[in-house]
Amino acid sequence: MQEILRRLEEKRAAARAGGGARRVQTQHDKGKLTARERLEVLLDEDSFEEWDMFVEHRCSDFGMTEQRVPGDGVVTGHGTVNGRPIFVFSQDFTVFGGSLSEPHAEKICKIMDKAMLVGAPVVGLNDSGGARIQEGVASLAGYAEVFQRNVLASGVVPQISLIMGPCAGGAVYSPAMTDFIFMVEDSSYMFVTGPDVVKTVTHEEVTLEELGGAGTHTTKSGVADRAFENDVEALLETRRFIDFLPGSNREPPPLRPTEDPIEREEPSLDTLVPSDPAKPYDMKELIEKVVDEGDFFELMPNYAGNIVIGLARLDSHTVGIVANQPMVLAGCLDIASSVKAARFVRFCDCFNIPIVTFVDVPGFLPGTAQEYGGIIKHGAKLLFAFAEATVPKVTLITRKAYGGAYDVMSSKHIRGDVNYAWPTAEIAVMGPKGAVEIIFRQDIGDAEKIEKRTEEYRAAFANPFIAASRGFIDDVIMPHGTRRRLCRALALLRGKELENPWKKHDNLPL
Ligand code: HXC
Repeated sequence: MQEILRRLEEKRAAARAGGGARRVQTQHDKGKLTARERLEVLLDEDSFEEWDMFVEHRCSDFGMTEQRVPGDGVVTGHGTVNGRPIFVFSQDFTVFGGSLSEPHAEKICKIMDKAMLVGAPVVGLNDSGGARIQEGVASLAGYAEVFQRNVLASGVVPQISLIMGPCAGGAVYSPAMTDFIFMVEDSSYMFVTGPDVVKTVTHEEVTLEELGGAGTHTTKSGVADRAFENDVEALLETRRFIDFLPGSNREPPPLRPTEDPIEREEPSLDTLVPSDPAKPYDMKELIEKVVDEGDFFELMPNYAGNIVIGLARLDSHTVGIVANQPMVLAGCLDIASSVKAARFVRFCDCFNIPIVTFVDVPGFLPGTAQEYGGIIKHGAKLLFAFAEATVPKVTLITRKAYGGAYDVMSSKHIRGDVNYAWPTAEIAVMGPKGAVEIIFRQDIGDAEKIEKRTEEYRAAFANPFIAASRGFIDDVIMPHGTRRRLCRALALLRGKELENPWKKHDNLPL
């Protein structure tokens, strides 16, 4: 018996050694943790249960028979994050560069299948040279098996991808189909074709970092949701993020009891909106002042800053926040911000997360760039997402809610459940100046007349009371009492039941 136990320990040690000390050193020299070290940071202490540690590749070409490492370049299994189960795979770059073989893919598929069955998130730690070159099409088949599961799991269990090394070619499409992508600065990159191919085909000279680094994907392409300084920060922030999420679409998001009283008043909010309607203010200040303990996990903070999205809690319950940001492009909706927020609204709706929307929007961004880029179709995505969402929807208009953008931003008319406005709200077809220049076009040369008309229009329409008199706004509330009013609205809506008509699926304007 002792001998059998010793042999088991030996096999385990071989799997744990991965590609060996030299390759582990190279990994560390690049500032990266190994696959197993990453799991130690991500998961609660001693919670990891490894599966398929003894799986090996079945390839015999190119001298592969002699090169077998138990586990075959990916560590898979389940563990807990603050006591709640998650499934995880962590690619081991020290074994064939973390490249994906057929058995490597089967290991990932196994945990994905089980995650869907039991209802727990899947977190993928990606660090891979892509398809296992020695395997050819078997490896491509493996990728496709993973892709298929990404799609079936979408909306069933949360899927989070951490990019912690290379991720290139078709391999990027698995992370792209998960809910969130977090990258590590200076050590991760994602692209469909690398710099050499780009140079051959388009004659562009571009570095790895410029083409697909964390900076590119969190500011230019919008592919990644966050970038972190190093592996440890990325993993710890992923733990914090998971705390906001339900295990699956079959359960409500977790509760995290707070010491922050629901009744807490915030007098500084009474002066947040400047008296000059053209002056910006920071919408994030409002978010941080009303949510539990100011704890806001912002997503895509450096992309399409004219809209702010992220997760927070109100009265201990997770909420999704969508907010126009007057500091960037005056809070206008454009292509990038519409797509950014639409996907987030749909994520919240999939996973039973109520949506709180803060509105200060002067309209859609005008211009040929936007029209030629398809703002009609892309703006419609956000409208579609809000309108189809059946989770509780609470909306607060702080200042401008003009034109079509008023309708889009979770208005009463698209099933906003509780819609509030601050007394500073201006709900109208457009801003006073624009309106007067259309209605009184004949007076445009007469500055005094235009000024007078503008003031008349402002007095008549630039307020929340016309909308409130029609019931489009449920109440005009004091800014300092915002937290209490939002918490009460959400408590009321916890029993909400609403279903859309049966359909195979909708036809979102993609
Ligand atoms: C097998 C691979 C591998 C791969 C790397 N290795 N990529 N083995 N298949 N795809 C091995 C290397 O031979 C080496 O083995 C070890 O991993 C580390 O690789 P290095 O090149 O020394 O590391 P580094 O200098 O950091 O460069 C990393 C890299 C480079 C940029 C990822 O290895 C590389 O370009 N690899 C090939 C990438 C690629 O073309 N993949 C296929 C893409 S097509 P030793 O024994 O020396 O440690 C694809 C299609 C997916 O993925 C389609 C899905 C539908």
